[in-house]
Parts: sequence; structure tokens; C-alpha cells
Amino acid sequence: RSVSAVAFSSSANLGPGYDILALAHTSFFDRVSVREGSRTRLFCTGIPQEIESNTAGRAVTAMLRALDVRAELEIHIEKGIPYGLGLGSSGASAVGAVTAASELLGLSLSGEEIVRFAMQGEVASSGAAHPDNVAAATFGGAVAVLSDGPVVRRIPVHSAFRFLLIVPGQQREGKTRLARSLVPRAIETGKYVRNSRRLASLILGLSSGDRELLREGMNDEIVEPSRSPLFPFYWRIKEEALALNAAGVCVSGAGPSILVIFDERTDVSGIERRATSILESFGMSTRTVRAVS
Ligand code: HSE
Repeated sequence: RSVSAVAFSSSANLGPGYDILALAHTSFFDRVSVREGSRTRLFCTGIPQEIESNTAGRAVTAMLRALDVRAELEIHIEKGIPYGLGLGSSGASAVGAVTAASELLGLSLSGEEIVRFAMQGEVASSGAAHPDNVAAATFGGAVAVLSDGPVVRRIPVHSAFRFLLIVPGQQREGKTRLARSLVPRAIETGKYVRNSRRLASLILGLSSGDRELLREGMNDEIVEPSRSPLFPFYWRIKEEALALNAAGVCVSGAGPSILVIFDERTDVSGIERRATSILESFGMSTRTVRAVS
């Protein structure tokens, strides 16, 4: 018997919510199938891969070990989410694999248990067990990870808001690891207070439909600026998107993709055109994808 699960792409951080907030979107998905075999092996779109260096393999191994389950599993991953673009690709494979394995073995894991094991997979790709993308891929919609346990809660997203992904043609493996190494180890209290206020504005704006709160809330002065060298085009795209009435703009996860939240007042086609031409001036192709969460 083989059990399959799909897991969707996501944008983590949403500005000031580093390792806390994420939003799943329907733009891309991975499909993962798991069945019992003679030994644990992993195939990614047909190609065998090292278990421990792959997020899905590592997540499933963490699950089997923690629950003391003895099973040999063959994991087949069909990648639909492009990797290295800040779209939660590694996290989605891990969530798909843990979800399918849990069902195959009759483990009845809760959403938070799936996140707990899937986040261990992220160590393989970024060096850290960050839970934000896997929480969004597991729960859907917008989520907040409230403790390492992990405790995860969904944030209702007001129906006025829609999402646009700007995906530059600049894939880089190992990018999240590099991006995390750029984040400052210490910050001054003033920055902490301003960023915390924005995080509160963002959550309230997202759920109440108050676009002014959301617009203010999606500004981050700690993580995004520290990673600027990885996406120098971001600030210009953000400025122009806000001038065209975007409800909020942020880097998607560790970038280089950009998430734009829009509503009926936003000139979305104008943003797509401007972003495409800005990225072209940086020598990059662009794909824009409208999505729902
Ligand atoms: N919160 C993580 C980071 C997400 O920004 O490093 C990576 O996709």
C-alpha cells in the first residue's frame, strides 16, 4: 500500500514575524508518496537521495526515532515547488512525507506533532529547525508559531486580501543557511519595540481587514535589511508596489521571492509590470503568480 499527501508552498516571516509567522498559498505544491519497503530510501522526482541530507528523509527519520516505530519506508517526492526561492519548498516536502508516513503507519499525528517532526527536516537545508514554513504547510492559511513545543495557531485572514508572488529567476542552493547567518545576533531595544509594534499591527490588520495597520505592520527593520545583499532589487519593488497601492509587501521567507498582499484598491497588473522591469534591469527573468491562501 502506498499513501500520498500534498503540501503547499508558503511565505514565512511576513516582515517582522521572523520564525513566527507564515502564510501557505496555492501557487505550488509537492506530492509525496510513502510505502513500506525493504529499506528506508528516498527518491526525489525519480532520483535517489541521501536520507539525512534531505528535509523529508530527515523529518521522517526523526518521527520514527521519537515514536520508537520500526519501519523501512520508501519515500517518493514529486517536486512541484521550486527550491531556493523562499517559497517553503524544503518544508513542504517534509510535511508531505511526515503526513503520508503517519497515515500509512496509522500514527494519527496531530497538526502540531507533524510540525514538530517536519521542522527537524529543515536542519538539512538551512542548519536550523525553523518551524514557520512547515506550520503553514501543515495547517494552511496564515499561522503563528507561539512556542518551540510547537504551539501553532491559525490567524484568520480577512476576505478583502489576496496575494501576489513575485518570483525572480535567481535560484540558489544553501541560500537560507547564508541568509540566516546574516541576521544580527543582538539588537537595540528601540528596534525591538518598533518591530514588536509592527508585528502586533500586522496580525490585527491581517485579521480585521484594516489595510493601514497591515501596511505599517509589514515593515521589518531587523531581518530584511540584514539580508539586503541577497535581494538588492527588493526595496525598489517594494516602494513602487506601495505607490501602486499594495496593502503590504515583504520578502517571502529568506527570499529572493517577494510577497505582495493586495486588495481592490491595488493596481496589481501595474505592480507585475514594474517588478518585471526592475528585475530585468538586474538581469533577471521574473514569474508572477496570483494566489489564494
Ligand atoms: N524564517 C525562516 C528564515 C524562513 O527567514 O530564515 C526560511 O524560509
